[in-house]
Amino acid sequence: MKTFKDVLIDRRSVRRYERKGIEPEKLAFICDAIRNTPTSYNGQQFSVVVVTDPETKLELYDIIGQKQVKTCAAFFFFCVDFHQLELAAKAKGVEFPDYQNSLNGYTVGVVDATLAMHQAIAAAESLGLGTCCIGYARTADPAKTSEILGLPSKVAIVCGLAVGYPAETPDIKPKRPAEIVVFENRYGDDEVILSKLMAYDAEVSEYNRSRAGDQTANDWAAHILDYHEIERKKAIEKYLKKQEIELKIR
Ligand SMILES: Cc1cc2nc3c(=O)[nH]c(=O)nc-3n(C[C@H](O)[C@H](O)[C@H](O)COP(=O)(O)O)c2cc1C
Repeated sequence: MKTFKDVLIDRRSVRRYERKGIEPEKLAFICDAIRNTPTSYNGQQFSVVVVTDPETKLELYDIIGQKQVKTCAAFFFFCVDFHQLELAAKAKGVEFPDYQNSLNGYTVGVVDATLAMHQAIAAAESLGLGTCCIGYARTADPAKTSEILGLPSKVAIVCGLAVGYPAETPDIKPKRPAEIVVFENRYGDDEVILSKLMAYDAEVSEYNRSRAGDQTANDWAAHILDYHEIERKKAIEKYLKKQEIELKIR
């Protein structure tokens, strides 16, 4: 088993994997970690589909377009899930409150699913496996992906996670300094934040110019803002509606 430092501090996304499956007992360990996710009211408003079948991974890769989907040993889909509570409501004759249609309810599901994904990341990394979150699992035709996965109504994809034995050890990416990530008692001053951000921006530019593997000329801020400009145009509302999650602004 790896140490907490390995799992939390020395973690990096791994995008190349050995052609090797994950042992059943290791997969079971990851699933146990997922099951024990802390969730809102212990409502467990999430579910996970793990795809290990090579043909299905290939089919999903054709939609999602990230090579990790086909090259990893196991690809996990973390989903908001209000379907199971709806089933229970019907069985018990309790009125279903359509919590998933409120921004608060949907957020609860997203938080639960995201924490479940982090349980999986920590468990997998502790076993010496490599992981990479895949947001395109939600944004690149999630309706088609959901059909392949057989997701029922009120279940919707939040994020994907590729897991496999690492075939690379990328340099750890620099992150914002602690002083502007975690504030003590009160949010910080803009002037201090900006000077730290600009220093961080320069650090990322240097990292991108000199890192092992593929180098780029990207900075941090302009690169991320560019990414936001592209991503904000991707609408998932239609997909959520198809899954019977209709967000209502009240
Ligand atoms: C929600 C989420 C979605 C992500 N989606 C992708 C993705 O689709 N493809 C990819 O290669 N990396 C993806 N990543 C990985 C990020 O690029 C990576 O975490 C970030 O660059 C920081 O690098 P590190 O994980 O090595 O620290 C995603 C990460 C998160 C948390």
